[in-house]
Amino acid sequence: MPTILITGGHSGIGLECVKELAARGVDIVLAGRDLARLDETAAALRLRCGVKVTTLGMDVSCLGSIREAAAQCRRMIESGEIGRLQAILCNAGATFRGEPSYTKDGYELTFATNYLGHFLLVQLLIDSLEEDGRVVFTASGTHDPDTTDGKFIGRAVKPDAFALAKTGLDGNKRLPGGKRYTTSKLCVVLHAYELDRRLKAAGLRISSIAYDPGAIAATGLLRDVPGPARAMIGSRPVRWLMKRVGLTLGDLVQSGRALAHLAVSSDVLSGRYYQWKDGALHERRSADLTYDQMLAEALWRDSRTLVQLSPEEEPERLK
Ligand SMILES: NC(=O)c1ccc[n+]([C@@H]2O[C@H](COP(=O)([O-])OP(=O)(O)OC[C@H]3O[C@@H](n4cnc5c(N)ncnc54)[C@H](OP(=O)(O)O)[C@@H]3O)[C@@H](O)[C@H]2O)c1
Repeated sequence: MPTILITGGHSGIGLECVKELAARGVDIVLAGRDLARLDETAAALRLRCGVKVTTLGMDVSCLGSIREAAAQCRRMIESGEIGRLQAILCNAGATFRGEPSYTKDGYELTFATNYLGHFLLVQLLIDSLEEDGRVVFTASGTHDPDTTDGKFIGRAVKPDAFALAKTGLDGNKRLPGGKRYTTSKLCVVLHAYELDRRLKAAGLRISSIAYDPGAIAATGLLRDVPGPARAMIGSRPVRWLMKRVGLTLGDLVQSGRALAHLAVSSDVLSGRYYQWKDGALHERRSADLTYDQMLAEALWRDSRTLVQLSPEEEPERLK
């Protein structure tokens, strides 16, 4: 049975994705920071689908936690407790309104959670993927500043890893919450493409894909928005209006299933961007800036410095 690791698989889009994967007989590794909720989800999936579901404690905003979790994952593979990974789904993400806050590592929380943590996770686990394995990144249409999605909560800025990690500190410009989110997702898409180029250059069959599930109010993403406002955003008239102004709307169940499709289907192309829109999955063009290879290389190089990747941690496959 294939084994797929997902971050943020116990709620929202990730949960709908793992329900679909488990129904297709895929063994799951649920990685997250809330072990009680992970265990609860794991028990329900085992009962419903009879697949193997393993939980892995991991705070994606904390580099130490990712290192520990990746080491544990590799030990489980070596001991045969879980299979080699068919896919890694970098799905966990969050928005943080108001003033920036910083992780234990000293990096801005949105950038660390949505982008940098998954960068490190992929470095540490790429050697644990099957030869035809896959990495899927849950990005967001908000990453593209030239679209209505990208203008809605604040247009992404040019991604400079050091400035983003230290937003509001050390003389770096302070970015508002919306821009911190959209720019972190711009980094996610740049990373997905750069990983694809490096995998191809190394002659590997592993694929790397970016995905926009569309806007969905019924997940935990808007958890810090007051209840009434959240209910209003999810209401039919507001959804209708959002569509009218050109926003890309997702659907909790369908967008989650589309993520599962991207994880396992053979009709998916590496180095591409997929979006759930109008009831179907489409391959489409991402923001112009995401095709800037020099920018992507710089982001990769600076991210390695920020996560302090040691020579022993260098993935064999990408050397
Ligand atoms: N909903 C939308 O409109 C929308 C649109 C485009 C893209 N997306 C993206 O879709 C992905 C899934 O989001 P969602 O909408 O399904 O929201 P969600 O229900 O809040 O799911 C986000 C998941 O990420 C996990 N997570 C957050 N911070 C974490 C951390 N530091 N360490 C480990 N796990 C962490 C959460 O776990 P906890 O329970 O521990 O917080 C949760 O399981 C995100 O990447 C989001 O940016 C969402």
